[in-house]
Amino acid sequence: MTPREDGYRVAVVGATGQVGTMMLRLLRERNFPAREIVPFASERSAGRELEGGLIVRPLADDTIEGFDLAIFSAGGSTSGEWAPRFVEAGAVVVDNSSKWRMSDDVPLVVSEVNPDALDGHRGIIANPNCSTMQMVVALKPIYDAAGIERLVISTYQAVSGTGKKGVDELLGQSRALLAGDEPPDPRAYAHRIAFNALPHAGNFAAGDDHTDEELKLVNETRKILGDPSIRISATCVRVPVVNAHSEAVNVETRSPLSPEEARELLRAAPGITVLDDPEAGRYPLAIEADGQDDVFVGRIRRDRGHDQALDMWIVSDNLRKGAATNAIQLAEVLHERGLVGARVA
Ligand SMILES: NC(=O)c1ccc[n+]([C@@H]2O[C@H](COP(=O)([O-])OP(=O)(O)OC[C@H]3O[C@@H](n4cnc5c(N)ncnc54)[C@H](OP(=O)(O)O)[C@@H]3O)[C@@H](O)[C@H]2O)c1
Repeated sequence: MTPREDGYRVAVVGATGQVGTMMLRLLRERNFPAREIVPFASERSAGRELEGGLIVRPLADDTIEGFDLAIFSAGGSTSGEWAPRFVEAGAVVVDNSSKWRMSDDVPLVVSEVNPDALDGHRGIIANPNCSTMQMVVALKPIYDAAGIERLVISTYQAVSGTGKKGVDELLGQSRALLAGDEPPDPRAYAHRIAFNALPHAGNFAAGDDHTDEELKLVNETRKILGDPSIRISATCVRVPVVNAHSEAVNVETRSPLSPEEARELLRAAPGITVLDDPEAGRYPLAIEADGQDDVFVGRIRRDRGHDQALDMWIVSDNLRKGAATNAIQLAEVLHERGLVGARVA
């Protein structure tokens, strides 16, 4: 199939949310070839006017007809119900939720890492979890050069990863505490997030001692790198940072790799900025990654307890590369490869 000359009809589902708002902005900024962009959200927002005069529509059988591409960021249950319906109506779906990521017939794709996985798509394409996304961008050049035996990961995740309600909760509690008032009770999190660190990012399923966020890091990393043998240990922590996730990652390689070699590989890789001069105070920071598309890597050093392991610090804007930017990059690759509207039956 050749790309449409008059542009695609694109649905953005979850268009009023943090990720959806960013996706609408990026579709415009990156000049995605759309002849029409239609925002969808819940019934609550139907009729609302967004930037650029776009009017929010509700999801219904008659409103989802006639799209080439639908990009979802409206949570797992909305994707579960409506993504197959968009596919049935002829669209290709790029989904930000966790609903389809581990399904065998759904490619889980990071544009710099495994774009070829798009080629056999069956209608739905999954965008990985934000903390997995930024990490695999940094790990891919290392994996290709030296293999990866084991990862030990600690995340420091921003509240924007929980949606608007997470940001509102951090700011509301912080304002109250700074004014000397009693902070509002936690609603988005199990405990107060302001001036705290919660070893509880995501949810514990009954009887499980890992959160779903930790299991996503394990399972999605293996699927994207195509290597189920990588051993992975993850602890995900929610911290009082508004936006951009940070991660301390210990990487045990299969063949020797020095910190200097790792730095060179990362400098040459797409989508990565190496910031690594600790004496001068240069290393990635959440407040500097906020608003940027790149993945920032620094503090690259030999693990003093293991001569075939490296430690590194990886930071990225979870709403951009961790969600919206990658989704739009996938739409661009689908367009370039003539895969919008084309799928393996
Ligand atoms: N935040 C991140 O860092 C991040 C990263 C990767 C993936 N994601 C995924 O992206 C999705 C959205 O995250 P977010 O941070 O943008 O959340 P958010 O700010 O809370 O926005 C949620 C969006 O979903 C819409 N929505 C909720 N229920 C709906 C329904 N029943 N039907 C249609 N639309 C519905 C909301 O519409 P209303 O305004 O009408 O309620 C809103 O547009 C989630 O699946 C999340 O897991 C988020």
